[in-house]
Amino acid sequence: MSKRIFITGAGRRLGKTLAQHFLHQGWQVVAHFNSACELETHPALTAVQADLSDPASIRALCTQLKTLGQFDAVIHNASCFVPDAAATDLAQHIAQHQNVHVTAPVMITDALKSQWADDAAMISISDIYADIPNQRFAVYCAAKAGLQNWSLSMAQRLAGKVRVNVIQPGPVQFLPEHDDAYRKKVLSQSLIGEELGYGAIVQACDYLLAARAVTGTVMRVDGGRFVANRYDQTFS
Ligand SMILES: NC(=O)c1ccc[n+]([C@@H]2O[C@H](COP(=O)([O-])OP(=O)(O)OC[C@H]3O[C@@H](n4cnc5c(N)ncnc54)[C@H](OP(=O)(O)O)[C@@H]3O)[C@@H](O)[C@H]2O)c1
Repeated sequence: MSKRIFITGAGRRLGKTLAQHFLHQGWQVVAHFNSACELETHPALTAVQADLSDPASIRALCTQLKTLGQFDAVIHNASCFVPDAAATDLAQHIAQHQNVHVTAPVMITDALKSQWADDAAMISISDIYADIPNQRFAVYCAAKAGLQNWSLSMAQRLAGKVRVNVIQPGPVQFLPEHDDAYRKKVLSQSLIGEELGYGAIVQACDYLLAARAVTGTVMRVDGGRFVANRYDQTFS
């Protein structure tokens, strides 16, 4: 029987690439999307819609997931990335980020507690900014830090049943709104110095889903941005 994976935020960008990859590998894919699903129909694909910033919508998604059988893998990938300066209602801005990055993974994982297959694995997609501050995106950083810490608790709670790991992407694929100056600046602050592409994260997911010795790990896939010499550290 083919394996089954659930991926959040799979309607476009990285999540869509992951869904296509696992379909190509012969998995049954349950792909969550929010506003639009760009995936082509496929006999092994089930697409499920939910706004993960809304607890009622997360609850409805959980009810749906309970009808879909056993899962070998889950990737918590959905994310919202709004600068604090763009928030018109700060409480709503905080709730949106916390719900998408923390409430949804917590509720989904709880809903699936009786549905894990043997040797299952879960991956949370965090960010290097879970560990380093970024005052422009402080609420986003705090939410990713919450996702990361909760994931490590899950590595403990689900030990022996589900391996749980975190991937911290760096500048994998810029958003359309990122201009040339921003892209150059970010890449100048990494060791590899190039946009890594979604393939880098797909490769990391393949490794973590297969690596039976690895759980409770935070893996940076960031082109060395975390350890790059971001500030002038020359001392005379
Ligand atoms: N791209 C990078 O260079 C980079 C760097 C660091 C970390 N990451 C992390 O890597 C992951 C994938 O990156 P990406 O560039 O593909 O992210 P992205 O463009 O921000 O997309 C994330 C996905 O989350 C969904 N989403 C957003 N708000 C949602 C909501 N309220 N309810 C449900 N789904 C929602 C989006 O769907 P809709 O558009 O339909 O809302 C989209 O499919 C994310 O976790 C991101 O934080 C990426």
